[in-house]
Amino acid sequence: AAGSYQEPYRNQYHYSAKQNWLNDPNGLIKYDGVYHMFYQYNPQGNEWGNMSWGHATSTDLVHWKEQDVAIPESDENAWVDFWMKTKDDAKPVHYLGRPTTNWDVWNPNGKRYIFSGSVILDKDNVAGFGKNTLIAYYTSTYQVAVRDDDYSKDQLGNLLGIREVQEQNMAYSTDGGKTFKKYNNQNPVIPVTQVPTSDAGNFRDPKVVYDEANKQWVMPVVSGQEVDLFTSTNLKDWTFQSAIKRAHDVGNGVWECPELIPMKVKGTNKTKWVLSLSVQQGAPAGGSGMQYFIGNFDGKKFIPDSDETMKNPQWLDFGEDFYAGVTFGETPGRTIMLGWMSNWNYVGEQKTTPWHGEMTLPRELTLVRDNSGYSLKQAPVKEVNQLSQGETALDVRKIHARAQSEKTIDIKNFSGTQYKVSADFSWKKNQAPNRLGVKLRASEDGSKYVAVGYDPSSKQVYLDRTKDGESITRQNTKVKLDGNPTNIKLAVYVDTSSIEVFVNNGEKVLTQVVYPNPEQPSDSKGLAFFAESGKVTITRAVGEHFES
Ligand code: FRU
Repeated sequence: AAGSYQEPYRNQYHYSAKQNWLNDPNGLIKYDGVYHMFYQYNPQGNEWGNMSWGHATSTDLVHWKEQDVAIPESDENAWVDFWMKTKDDAKPVHYLGRPTTNWDVWNPNGKRYIFSGSVILDKDNVAGFGKNTLIAYYTSTYQVAVRDDDYSKDQLGNLLGIREVQEQNMAYSTDGGKTFKKYNNQNPVIPVTQVPTSDAGNFRDPKVVYDEANKQWVMPVVSGQEVDLFTSTNLKDWTFQSAIKRAHDVGNGVWECPELIPMKVKGTNKTKWVLSLSVQQGAPAGGSGMQYFIGNFDGKKFIPDSDETMKNPQWLDFGEDFYAGVTFGETPGRTIMLGWMSNWNYVGEQKTTPWHGEMTLPRELTLVRDNSGYSLKQAPVKEVNQLSQGETALDVRKIHARAQSEKTIDIKNFSGTQYKVSADFSWKKNQAPNRLGVKLRASEDGSKYVAVGYDPSSKQVYLDRTKDGESITRQNTKVKLDGNPTNIKLAVYVDTSSIEVFVNNGEKVLTQVVYPNPEQPSDSKGLAFFAESGKVTITRAVGEHFES
């Protein structure tokens, strides 16, 4: 059944498909005044599989209209035949792929999956498909039989095993992104035999960007635990230039969805290059998350600012649910990123139906420099303000909580399930509470809620879900602030089943999927402020209902 968008847990101002599974955003681009969002999509089911590129469009980044599938899974190049050394094999092995049934657990029809990738606008017809063609680069994923030496097309050699293979393919659209044609018989543009690491099964997620200074296109692709950089001047022939190696192990998770983002340092004319990455395991909140590194790009190599840069990845988000984020192309002067609001760690436990998976709010990134170096600041795009139904001043000014006790102030004139709450707290050092913050999605009796708060002694902003009554119990998430603050600003975006917390104007972000109180979802609309053992002044408290 097609989704009604009224189902329990259906987010109202975050994108989800009417029905069926989605994951990573792909090929984000603005074209002819319209924002296009493609994404990993299963047209046939509510679980991962049949990977295709779904499609949605928007004129304002907040209201999205679902479109027909743009690139369906396919059976191009049915027969492949190559020798290759793989990471764990000392000797090259023979790969022979052909679409037969029953040779693969997750891809029984022998189709090729359209994995993550990107879209660029070929304004000047560099590739020869015509002016203003949209060109998609994606990973074609399939499985091949590995056979021994003794074979011909009629007489197969002995089956040694099955291997997954990933290659970079190209397709183009001359109808503004509705449909894509495969690049004839020229695919793959980067075949598996050119994987620098020989890790045939983990070579994916091409994100093409224009390198203004060197008049070329750059394509980072992950390959196991490194990122390989390819360049091209004609958009078809790609040359391997260099590899970015991992400095130390972060939970052994493979890298995915790499991106090189040229960005102006705020307030200057200087361009730096940000390498952003998704890592499947080892993120601060457990499981998958996004890292970034800052440096320069010389046309061939990414040069991290120092050795420390690669050793100490910065994290984009400290919640569990910001993954596979990539930025929009063709938005000059703005770096707008959108992520899949989930985590490979627990994703199967989410049982929403008839859809599965949603996107985060689009955020604008700025690169700033301060005493501790370069970092990214993030804020929801200004277009999100359109959703506001107006500001309500919340009636809370001071909270004085006695020692060992918590004081809660229920907000009487504001409640809901889709809103933004902005709250600025300050306190004196010697009266600092143990904890302070807001309770969201609170039940009428106050026993169930999700708390977003700050603990001045550990300097941690946290999201506490121990009282949310949800069926999936996961850990609380937190992030430490620098210095010794005596005030904090929180901007919290609440939707039916998600919470995005922007701390101190986007210095730190926590994105979290939450299903409050599944037995009585309608009973979880309350908003309250709280403090524990101390005094806090609330210098600003504003609620805004969001259009849904
Ligand atoms: C990231 C990812 C990508 C891959 C896609 C498959 O979430 O694993 O690396 O291309 O999802 O759906």
